[in-house]
Amino acid sequence: MSDDPAAFLSAVGLSASGSPGGGAAPVPSPSLSPLGPGPRGGSRRRVLVADDDPGILQIAGTLLGRLYEVQTFPSGEEALLAIQNGLKPDVILSDQRMRALPGTELIERAKALLPDTVCAIMTGYGEIKEIITGISKGEIHLYISKPWQPAELLQAVRLCFIHREMTLENRRLRGETTEQDGALSEIRGDLTGVNRDFFLLHQKAQATFSSTCHVLGALVTDHTGYYHDSHAETVSRIAGAVAGAVGFRGTARNEIEMAALLHDIGKAELPEEIRTADPATLRGQALTAYESHVARGVARLAQIARFERVAEIVAQHHERGDGTGFPNRLPLRMILRESQIVALADLYHNLTSRLTPLEISKRKAGIDMTRGIMDVAERQQHAAPWFASHGHLFDPLVYRAFLDVAASGAVPGFKLVLG
Ligand SMILES: [Fe+2]
Ligand SMILES: [Fe+2]
Repeated sequence: MSDDPAAFLSAVGLSASGSPGGGAAPVPSPSLSPLGPGPRGGSRRRVLVADDDPGILQIAGTLLGRLYEVQTFPSGEEALLAIQNGLKPDVILSDQRMRALPGTELIERAKALLPDTVCAIMTGYGEIKEIITGISKGEIHLYISKPWQPAELLQAVRLCFIHREMTLENRRLRGETTEQDGALSEIRGDLTGVNRDFFLLHQKAQATFSSTCHVLGALVTDHTGYYHDSHAETVSRIAGAVAGAVGFRGTARNEIEMAALLHDIGKAELPEEIRTADPATLRGQALTAYESHVARGVARLAQIARFERVAEIVAQHHERGDGTGFPNRLPLRMILRESQIVALADLYHNLTSRLTPLEISKRKAGIDMTRGIMDVAERQQHAAPWFASHGHLFDPLVYRAFLDVAASGAVPGFKLVLG
């Protein structure tokens, strides 16, 4: 580059009318297209140039003045003072070697006030060490080696603006994303609250429904005076434990427990004398009426929403694997495992808890039932031979699980020792 600014400007087709504070001299179209008008509603992009070489300051001011709003300063102190007084350039272009305040120091202090301003430094090779420090601190975006060509200067300033505007745009997008994240987490929070309310409501409804089933099951069998303890409750507890041992979980296990609770609900429609009779003593129409409790129960359960499976289980609770059960005399392969579990629990409770005819007559006569009756251990001993000889009526997996749970003592009062 020529040492005479006027000669240089003339050589590149410019007049030397540019001056500190911003030049408006015409410039040729540079080979690199600079960024157009600024993004802020048409206001121009602002460049601050600081150099204590008046010639270079004039050339830079003139070159950049056509494209940008340029403020030029002949020293680092004056540039810094202008910034401290409110000047807000988008880009600072500073010479490094200036008296009193070198370029790196001007940039460091300016960045402390204007962190979004992008800075470039003009330097000779001798000052590269300070420049590298400035670059690594993020204060200097790039440097321009002296002597520079006009296109290099325009390109450097253009890159500074591109960097600045990308940084601002990224920040804006990050802000939008954060806002959207905030809105999303608010929605998620609302949904979590709604889900929790629904979950609690659902739990309450389930608990109410379950206790209703317990009451219903107890109403059907317990008032008959036929058992030492609650038939429905005990059958359900045993069936639940055996179902778990077989591998039924969640809803499937719950359906078995419900079916066990309500397996005899059809008996509610039977006359008192049939409902309370020992089935083994019934014949003819009385026996047919007794066996109808299965179909009657299924008809009732089918009226309850989502109880289809419970009804199916109840429908087979008197089927036996040798085809002697009722109402359909089904073979083992057609009997649901769930129904077999209920059947085993039902059989166990009938064999160990049902009162003998003598005990029933005593109870009906109001005689004290706490003495002279067979104790539970004795009853379990009596029941053991039946279960030992009837394993073929059941699926081996179900039968094994039933015996295992009985042996484990996991259900209070449920014990069988087959010997
Ligand atoms: Fe039954
Ligand atoms: Fe029963």
